[in-house]
Amino acid sequence: MTDRYAVIGNPVAHSKSPLIHARFARDTGQDIAYEAVFSALDDFERVVERFRAAGGRGMNVTLPFKHRAFALCSVHSERAQHARAVNTLVLEPDAIRGDNTDGVGLVRDLAVNLGCALSGKRILLMGAGGASYGVCGPLLDEGPAALVVANRTVSKAVELCEHFRRVYGRAAALLAPAGYDALGGRAFDVVINATSAGLAGDMPALPGSVFAEGALGYEMLYGRTTPFMTLAARAGAECADGLGMLVEQAAESFFVWRGVRPQTRGVIAALRAGRS
Ligand code: ATR
Repeated sequence: MTDRYAVIGNPVAHSKSPLIHARFARDTGQDIAYEAVFSALDDFERVVERFRAAGGRGMNVTLPFKHRAFALCSVHSERAQHARAVNTLVLEPDAIRGDNTDGVGLVRDLAVNLGCALSGKRILLMGAGGASYGVCGPLLDEGPAALVVANRTVSKAVELCEHFRRVYGRAAALLAPAGYDALGGRAFDVVINATSAGLAGDMPALPGSVFAEGALGYEMLYGRTTPFMTLAARAGAECADGLGMLVEQAAESFFVWRGVRPQTRGVIAALRAGRS
């Protein structure tokens, strides 16, 4: 029997996850069906329960439900606990397990697809919302030389760093919160935009001098050229958007569900070319 999976969100019609998972299933010979499921804002838990009762085996969770998904799960992976958010549900008859594959997806896109190993690098992470919580742990795991978390509301960056120092112990000692105005005179090898500013055609007040020579500017959004990407390009940095992260986090979810790791390069290329 075909196993059912879905992405749940609001909105969700734009999601590329059904295309990506259909391609993974075809490439790996896995017999799965994957659909997009819309949930009203006050109905998330009921929609998940209905999908599970109908035999659903797993769900990806997208905005704005990642924190609600965390609260719904009875069992959490370590990386979900660190992120305090869940993007992957494993639906079992007597339990809902929660995982978070966003951070691993980012790191794999950086390290494997973009050839940017993070060990010993100076990293600037912009934003202190859910997207930053999702990736901070896996970035620390790579052993950077510095990880500065900058945010418009500095207290939220302080809170994020305190959280990771609590759950990561000594490995998080190099984490440092900052406001954007404190970044003048500092340079980074990798600058990651995990803010939602680009959705509104905006960007944080980032000095162009933060890009070290040969730096990479990584925008977590995809499908548009954001002001951050324009600034990074003007500053002479390499530039990448978040399409690779999207596919890599999906591949990790697929692995969690099916125990099989799909190839991602062809899928990323097909999505970029609009061929998928
Ligand atoms: P998400 O879960 O997508 O990270 P979020 O929790 O609402 O969403 O966080 C959005 C992040 O983008 C925050 O770090 C926010 O900064 P504040 O905490 O100061 O609000 C950041 N952000 C959004 N728009 C921004 C803008 N125009 N300039 C700077 N930062 C912005």
